[in-house]
Amino acid sequence: SGSQQQPAAQGGGEKVIKIGLIAPLTGDVKTFGESTKNGFLLALEQAGFKAGDYKIEYTIADDRNDATEGVNIATKMITQDKVKAIVGSVTSKVTIPVSEIANQNKVVLVTGTATNPKVTVGEDGKRKPFAFRACFIDPFQGTVGARFALDNLKVKTAAIIYDKGNDYTVGLAQFFKEAFEKGGGKVVAEETYTEKDTDFSAILTKVAQAKPEMLYLPDYYQKVSLIGKQAKEKGLNVPMMGGDGWDSAELDYQALAGGYFTNHYSSDDPREEVQKFVKDYQGKYGSKPDALAALAYDATNILLEGIRRANSDDTEKIREAIQGLKDFGTVSGKVTFDQNGNPIKPAVILQVQPDKTQKYIATVNP
Ligand code: PHE
Repeated sequence: SGSQQQPAAQGGGEKVIKIGLIAPLTGDVKTFGESTKNGFLLALEQAGFKAGDYKIEYTIADDRNDATEGVNIATKMITQDKVKAIVGSVTSKVTIPVSEIANQNKVVLVTGTATNPKVTVGEDGKRKPFAFRACFIDPFQGTVGARFALDNLKVKTAAIIYDKGNDYTVGLAQFFKEAFEKGGGKVVAEETYTEKDTDFSAILTKVAQAKPEMLYLPDYYQKVSLIGKQAKEKGLNVPMMGGDGWDSAELDYQALAGGYFTNHYSSDDPREEVQKFVKDYQGKYGSKPDALAALAYDATNILLEGIRRANSDDTEKIREAIQGLKDFGTVSGKVTFDQNGNPIKPAVILQVQPDKTQKYIATVNP
């Protein structure tokens, strides 16, 4: 995979800290990687590539949204490039194993976007003390989706269709189901597929027979675009809902028009810090920042603030400084970490519009 490196610092005497960005710059979720890289670089640029007395040097590597590749490039960054901190990765399935490696090597990791609980807490239930994230987690996201379905869409039954090999989709499906049934709803069909699948016709036939009042589709934009399109072709004209994985300019806005998804931020949010970020980002890149861009920007700023407060390249000190942040201002909300390295933040609900925009519907507080 390609990796990009900025030129080394000129002249001597200056203290330098190396950090890395890991993101899916190619592959099935490449718009996630592009937005992430943009947000990361904008934050570094605005900080003048400095934090406290330290000059920031960075390296960027592409995980292709593949867990094995993520582990390989994280290992290389840590052992060869000697990074002290990593921003990334983007999806949960890559970030869960990458955060394991970062934590074992006492390298600080801040993901903007990986929402599965296992990113900061291992299979053994133990906190990975060097791992943090800028986003809320999926038990909350799934609950927000379920409550919206029950209270606003006023449905009582749902079908869930998800990728059984993807930690994000498996988790979100489970959290949605728990909250939906706790609230009096019933999941009448649950169908799974694998990463390679592109024809969902057999699954959708079974789903249609169960006559659900809505479909919950907790996957990334490429897959949900295919499923949404094929569902409509089958005459399954019920409301569709999903999670943050829908957020892409490459979502099939026609196929999913009218559908709702939970997300981290809306570029229409009038708050000053949001509008300043939107303006700066548009000025540099010419497009509106999506949630991935906002959260990568936030994750990078959280890391920079940690380095600034520690004013050290000792990763134990940086980790402590990040854990201790209180109401730290970011684009997606004020950040205070719980004991698991997760910030407590609101979610937004957006509706897909056929003109390729996303309509802001509501903000839901934890
Ligand atoms: N939350 C997704 C995951 O954990 C990643 C994602 C975040 C995708 C935000 C889109 C927007 O895999």
